[in-house]
Amino acid sequence: MAMRIILIGPPGAGKGTQAASIIEKHPIIHISTGDILRENVRAGTELGQTAKRFMNAGQLVPDHLIIAMMRDRLAEDDAQNGFILDGFPRNVQQADALAPLLDDMSLRLDAVVLLEISDEAVVRRLEGRRVCSSCGMIYNVYSHPPKADDTCEACGGQVVRRADDQESVIRGRLDVYHKETAPLVEYYERSGLLHRVPADGGPDSALKYLESIGVSGK
Ligand code: AP5
Repeated sequence: MAMRIILIGPPGAGKGTQAASIIEKHPIIHISTGDILRENVRAGTELGQTAKRFMNAGQLVPDHLIIAMMRDRLAEDDAQNGFILDGFPRNVQQADALAPLLDDMSLRLDAVVLLEISDEAVVRRLEGRRVCSSCGMIYNVYSHPPKADDTCEACGGQVVRRADDQESVIRGRLDVYHKETAPLVEYYERSGLLHRVPADGGPDSALKYLESIGVSGK
């Protein structure tokens, strides 16, 4: 049985980190709207050019662009065997758009995992975050530094700081989270899908939690 889950949480809660642990163990795909947008920025597509100024300012990219992008992504063959949505939906409008998309494909969600973390812990984590510009591997100068400075252990690529990981932008992203994304907690609580997991457990705490409640995708 395919596993279909959404990871919600403030910037830096560890959505990408937890998703990496889950896909190591389960044959499902990780769909990160942030990663797809950054790829578009790098490739200089029309979407990337529009998205870049919102992303660098820590603001949400307009809903109609994100919803169209996700409609296309979820229609691809590899999404039919299960997925983790990381960074989508990001507000109630996007959640309202996702529901009929899944209905049309006769797919249902298994769980929405909320990673809980304080704002101050987010600021420290994101100031310390580094990412491989080539394979996307996530590091942290405090808790998980690359062994050789600026070089990715997995692929040898260059490890860099994300453009939106400056303190003023991080605080703006947190404001956007509290205003726009936090209402999704109640939204998914109402449908009985929401599960709270502390974000300060290990990088596989969401995986362990999901397995403990029987969402294993097997
Ligand atoms: P996006 O890329 O989705 O950014 P985000 O939600 O702000 O989340 P992050 O990627 O910053 O953090 P994360 O939770 O994945 O944490 P990570 O695992 O890296 O979005 C970027 C931008 O794109 C948005 O601002 C917006 O402009 C746009 N966008 C994206 N989706 C959109 C949408 N749907 N609608 C509109 N606009 C959209 O971990 C962070 C750090 O903590 C790392 O250094 C890691 O090593 C460390 N860490 C992780 N887990 C642990 C742990 N358990 N213990 C200790 N350290 C840990």
